[in-house]
Amino acid sequence: MANEDKVLEALLKEDRTFPPPAYFIEKALVKDTSLYEEAKKDREAFWAKQAENIDWFQKWDKVLDTSNAPFFKWFVNGKLNVSYNCIDRHLNTWRRTKAAIIWEGEPGDDRVLTYQDLYREVTRCANVLKELGVRRGDRVTIYLPMIPELPIAMLACARIGAPHSVVFGGFSAESLRDRINDCQAKLVITADGGWRRGGIVPLKKNCDDALAECPSVEKVLMVKRTGQDVNFVQGRDYWWHEMMARAPIGCEPEHMDAEDMLYILYTSGTTGKPKGVVHTTGGYLVGVSTTHRMIFDIKDDDIYWCTADIGWVTGHSYIVYGPLANGCTTVMYEGSPDWPERDRFWAIVEKYRVNILYTAPTAIRAFMKWGTEWPGRRDLSSLRLLGTVGEPINPEAWMWYYKYIGNERCPIVDTWWQTETGMILISPLPGVTTLKPGSATIPFPGVEAAVVDNTGKDVPLGSGGYLVLKSPWPAMLRTIYGDPDRYVAQYWSRFENMYFTGDGARWDEDGYFWIMGRVDDVINVSGHRLGTMEIESALVDHPAVAEAAVIGKAHEVKGQAVSAFVTLKEGFQGTPQLIEELKAHVVKKIGALARPEDIFFTAELPKTRSGKIMRRLLRDIAEGRVLGDTTTLADPSVVAQIKQQYESQES
Ligand code: WT7
Repeated sequence: MANEDKVLEALLKEDRTFPPPAYFIEKALVKDTSLYEEAKKDREAFWAKQAENIDWFQKWDKVLDTSNAPFFKWFVNGKLNVSYNCIDRHLNTWRRTKAAIIWEGEPGDDRVLTYQDLYREVTRCANVLKELGVRRGDRVTIYLPMIPELPIAMLACARIGAPHSVVFGGFSAESLRDRINDCQAKLVITADGGWRRGGIVPLKKNCDDALAECPSVEKVLMVKRTGQDVNFVQGRDYWWHEMMARAPIGCEPEHMDAEDMLYILYTSGTTGKPKGVVHTTGGYLVGVSTTHRMIFDIKDDDIYWCTADIGWVTGHSYIVYGPLANGCTTVMYEGSPDWPERDRFWAIVEKYRVNILYTAPTAIRAFMKWGTEWPGRRDLSSLRLLGTVGEPINPEAWMWYYKYIGNERCPIVDTWWQTETGMILISPLPGVTTLKPGSATIPFPGVEAAVVDNTGKDVPLGSGGYLVLKSPWPAMLRTIYGDPDRYVAQYWSRFENMYFTGDGARWDEDGYFWIMGRVDDVINVSGHRLGTMEIESALVDHPAVAEAAVIGKAHEVKGQAVSAFVTLKEGFQGTPQLIEELKAHVVKKIGALARPEDIFFTAELPKTRSGKIMRRLLRDIAEGRVLGDTTTLADPSVVAQIKQQYESQES
C-alpha cells in the first residue's frame, strides 16, 4: 500500500472545494438533497419510481427479489424491450425528427441519424439478423469500429432478444476467438476495417483468423467501411449494405422479461480467462437511464458526447442505452484524439456545439502534455458540464480540465463504476454536490457503498479499506456467463452479504469517497482493465519464456503501464530482439492495449514459500521504492538481487 498511501496523502492535502455555481443550480434537474433522503427512506420505492420513466409492456409485480441471493432479480415479471424504449417511444413525440446519433468518422465524414432514421435502420437490421438465422436467445458477437452500424446492430439484437457480445476492435484475433467460443455466438458482425490514425485496423482479417477455430459461428455480416480488398467466404459472409437494402422496415419488438439477458461484455479479472459479465434488461435500463439523466443533467436541447469506445461498458451504458432511452442526442467519434491534429476533440466540440463532455483521466493527461494551445484555438463555450471515468483523476489533471476545458464554469462529475456495476454508482450530482478534485464524492441515491476493513466492518470516516456495496442495485451484473460459481466467488464471498468491488478506497470526514485503485491483480492502463494473469499467460506461451510476472507501473499519461519480469528457458538469451518479439507476441495474443512498456529479464522471480509470485515487491522495485515486507518470501535474496540489477539497468 506504500504507493497508494503517498497518492492518498497528496489527495487529502487537496482541500479546494467547488460548490455548484448558481447559474447551474438554477436550471439543474436535481437541485437539492431530497432524492437522497427519499432513497434512504425506501430504496426499492425510489427505484420503482425511476422505473416509471421506462415503457413496460407489462408492469413488474415486485421491485426486488432477494430470495436466491446473490442471484438478485429486479422488476420481477416486468416485460419490456430495450430497443422500443430507445427508439419507438420517441417516435410519438417531437423527438421523432431529433438527432439521435451525431457521428463523425476519423477521415472527417459525418452522419446524423434522427430517431426516425434509427428506427428504419434498426428494424431493417433486426430483419437481416432474422434472415441470417438469429433467433431470440442466440448470441451475436459484434466486432466493429466506432461507426453508426455498431449501435444499430446492438439495438437490432435487443429488438429480437438476441444477447450481443461487443468485442473492442483493438482486441486481437485470438482474444476475439476466445470471446466468441465462450458465448457460442452464432453470428459475427464485423467490418472490412476501421480507421485509426489514418491507418486501417484489419477487422475482417482478424475475424477470419478467429473463425478458423469457432465452430459455433454460422454466418458473418460485414459492413463496408474502409473499402480495401477483403477475403469473402461464399455462403458464410454477407455484406451489410446488400442485406440492408433488401430488408423491410418495421419489426415487432420482442416482449422480453426484465431478467432476460441483454448483453455479455468480457472483462479481465484475476485469472487468465476473461469473464463474461452478464447484464439483463429491465434493471439495467432503469439504472443507466436514471443515472445518465441525473448525473449529466440531460435537457432536451443538449448535445452530449461520451468519448469512450462502445467496445467498453462506458460506451454501452453512456453512449448507447442511457442516452437513447432518454431521447438524448449522443455524439460518436470513430478515431483518435490526435488525428489529424491534437485538437480533434476540441474541433468536434466546436463543430457540434457539444454541451456535455464525458471522457477519461488518461485522455486529459495526454491533453495536458500536448499543451493548452490546442483547446485554446477552438470555441469551447458551448460546454456546460464535464465528466470523467475509468480511474482516479489526479487533482492536477482535474484542475487543468476545469480551467482549460471548462473555463472554470463547468462542474466536473467524477463517476466511479465498473463493467460489473453497469451504471455509475458513486458520483456528484452537478447541481447539488460540492466537488473536491480527485474524489468521486458520494454514492448515487439508492446506492449503498461503504469502506470496510478485513472483517467487513465499516472503517471510521477518515480511514481507508475495501470498497464494497451493501445492497443490490438495478443495473448490477447477474452472473458470469456460464460460470455462476465464479460470480459468487469473485464478488460475494470476500465479505458476507456484500459485493466486493476489488477497489481500495477511503472516505473522508465528510463521507466523500477517494478511490485508490485495485487491490487485486488487475491493472488499469489508460482506463482499461487488464488482468496481470492474462498477460503473463501470453508471455509464457512464447517458447523462450519459462515464467513471467506482470505489474502495473506508474505512468504519466496511461496511469499505469504494463511492466513484465521474465525468466527465460535454458539456452535463450535476453536480447533486445527478444524483447521486441515478446511484446509482439502479447499484442498477437491479446491486443495492442496489453503491449508491455518494458520487459526485464531475471534469473528468478520472488515467491512465497507456497510458490505465489509476490508482484507487490516487483512493483516496489519498478517504482523505485524501498522494498516492503519480504519475510514471507522463500528466498529473500532473490528480490534484493533483482532490485540491484534493475537499478543498474535503469541508470
Ligand atoms: C475499475 C473498473 C466503468 C467504466 C470504466 C472502467 C476504476 C473506474 C473510476 C473513477 C477511480 C475508477 C476502478 C474500477 N475506476 N472509474 N471515477 N475513479 N477509479 O470499467 O474496466 O470495469 O474498470 O476502474 O478501479 O474498479 P472497468
